[in-house]
Amino acid sequence: MDDNDGNTHFGFRTVPEADKAGMVHGVFSRVASKYDIMNDVMSGGVHRLWKDAMMDWLAPRAGQSLLDVAGGTGDVAFRFLRRAPGAVATVCDMTEPMLVEGRARAEAEQMTDRLTWVVGDAMALPFADRSFDVYTISFGIRNVTRIGDALREAYRVLKPGGRLMVLEFSQIPNAALQWAYDRYSFNVIPVMGQVIAGDRESYQYLVESIRKFPDQETFAGMIRDAGFGQVRYRNLTMGVACLHSGWKL
Ligand SMILES: C[S@@+](CC[C@H](N)C(=O)[O-])C[C@H]1O[C@@H](n2cnc3c(N)ncnc32)[C@H](O)[C@@H]1O
Repeated sequence: MDDNDGNTHFGFRTVPEADKAGMVHGVFSRVASKYDIMNDVMSGGVHRLWKDAMMDWLAPRAGQSLLDVAGGTGDVAFRFLRRAPGAVATVCDMTEPMLVEGRARAEAEQMTDRLTWVVGDAMALPFADRSFDVYTISFGIRNVTRIGDALREAYRVLKPGGRLMVLEFSQIPNAALQWAYDRYSFNVIPVMGQVIAGDRESYQYLVESIRKFPDQETFAGMIRDAGFGQVRYRNLTMGVACLHSGWKL
């Protein structure tokens, strides 16, 4: 799925590969202060259920170390730590304003001592080989320029026996439902972005990037290609989103 002609996609636009990260950074810098409220409004709160389903399948255990990449404001890391006494989490994201929002939440929830916040790129993680028990990436990987590179980095930083779990928007395997969902996405979400965050363009990118992301089987194949074993996926809300799991065996 990674383009190899020097170009890639930014939503429905074709852009030079070298430009994409800066454009994605621009989107998330602009939306950071409204990111959490927009997630609730756009999904009617359903993103919380999906993240809870992620934790149910992941089954965090006491003392584990989590790396949450593209972790933004920390939703996944907070959930993980609440379920795993004595666990620690590192949230890595390339957009510092998102991490700043997350750090403020950690202070409010008195979780600062179990969390580390690191600015870094999913395609070149600033961590040593075999550092973490669990790697998560939630609604992040579709924004990454070279998805294969990010998955290989996930494999590198996991300890042997470590677990990868990806939560991402996906493709609905039913044409009528996909049609209805597209109407909602393309007509409603950018307008909500304009009204709530004063930024229509960023939310237009978000819905376009969802449609560009590979389907469940294709993405599972990419996870296998990065070296993971026991690759499985579970659709959420009929395939609107999907959880992908793999192990570093
Ligand atoms: C939609 S937000 C997801 C935040 C959080 N994981 C969640 O589920 O709510 C996507 C995040 O991915 C980050 N991101 C995009 N590309 C990245 C990359 N190459 N490396 C690290 N973070 C990246 C953005 O900065 C943004 O914070």
